[in-house]
Amino acid sequence: MILVTGGAGFIGSNFVLNWLSLHDEPVVNLDKLTYAGNLNNLAGVMHDQRHHFVQGDIGDAALIADLLRQHRPRAILHFAAESHVDRSIHGPAEFIATNVNGTFTLLEAARAYHGSLDDAGRAAFRFLHVSTDEVYGSLGPNDPPFAETTAYAPNSPYSASKAASDHLVRAYHHTYGLPTLTTNCSNNYGPYHFPEKLIPLMIANALTGKPLPVYGDGKNVRDWLYVGDHCAAIRRVLEAGRVGETYNIGGWNEKTNLEVVHTLCDILDALAPRAGSHRDLVTYVKDRPGHDRRYAIDARKLERELGWKPAETFDSGIRKTVQWYLDHQDWVRDVQSGAYQGWMEQNYGKRGGAGEAA
Ligand code: NAD
Ligand code: DAU
Repeated sequence: MILVTGGAGFIGSNFVLNWLSLHDEPVVNLDKLTYAGNLNNLAGVMHDQRHHFVQGDIGDAALIADLLRQHRPRAILHFAAESHVDRSIHGPAEFIATNVNGTFTLLEAARAYHGSLDDAGRAAFRFLHVSTDEVYGSLGPNDPPFAETTAYAPNSPYSASKAASDHLVRAYHHTYGLPTLTTNCSNNYGPYHFPEKLIPLMIANALTGKPLPVYGDGKNVRDWLYVGDHCAAIRRVLEAGRVGETYNIGGWNEKTNLEVVHTLCDILDALAPRAGSHRDLVTYVKDRPGHDRRYAIDARKLERELGWKPAETFDSGIRKTVQWYLDHQDWVRDVQSGAYQGWMEQNYGKRGGAGEAA
């Protein structure tokens, strides 16, 4: 079996659902259920014998040791993290606790467990660390995309905490021989994406006629990858990645934020028309402090070595995603709890122009 951390979040839940639709191999799913963890994402597998959900913290050394002893997984896939850049600016402490100290605790437990395995178990074991392209910093308009050899230059508390965790993973391979794999992926989108992030927030606001808060001039560039493609890449790296290596994962879809928002508006104009265009809701608001200008990923190593390529184009993926949100408006309403409303006030209340974003 495999142990997944953070499997009730956006990417982790997509990974668990996809895994169980493709494999018979069971999954132990450890998640703290922070504001971002949502058991509704896993409704389809909550009664599946192959899915064993455990609510707990990756920083709980005794719990992790217990889970490893009890379930003896052949791999740990580490998704759990605090993941929202804006939240890391308002309150970085949780990011250090989970992304740095939590990853450290998990690595220590994995090291002890790995040492307890027989030769065959040790050779087969993998610790796959799910990380981000944000560790590489920000690109100028004509810079080449991030490669695995690009120097780390994280700019936000979130990306600094992820960079720290990547370094720890690297060190545990180099020093202790833990069989690690690290993936650095660009911006994901798709089902179960928490509506604090650009794409689901814009869809949710557009559907309720609220302002669409674009930070700064809207010209920051991100590379977008459909979440199912990210999950497929992770499965492939787990299956055949070279131990100790890192693999960049990206969609070859660089877009400005304004392009993304306009695309969403145009799709919604067709699928959920309102009086006037959804584009009329676009509202420019104060920029994110330290806002990285451009991310782009060179994913050729993964294609060359492991034959992975994204299956979705941005056009096909974004249409599926908007349709999913239209079909799952209850999911969005459930997620928009009291705690989430408090966050909307904290993040957008003082930016001006989008005071009604919540
Ligand atoms: P998310 O915020 O949607 O989910 C994170 C999950 O981790 C939640 O279910 C949460 O409850 C859980 N969690 C948080 N702290 C925990 C702790 N201490 N112990 C156990 N569980 C805990 O995040 P996501 O967008 O699904 O991202 C998953 C991983 O992928 C993260 O490591 C993130 O850095 C990385 N990543 C995300 C993207 C993206 O575009 N979303 C892109 C590249 C990499
Ligand atoms: O690049 C990978 C990263 O992508 C992941 O590591 C992070 O976990 C994930 O959250 C994401 O980070 P970003 O900061 O790029 O994603 P976010 O959706 O927060 O913002 C995308 C862009 O849109 C960014 O330039 C900021 C802008 N934005 C965001 C929000 C929430 C707005 O203009 N308005 C908004 O309201």
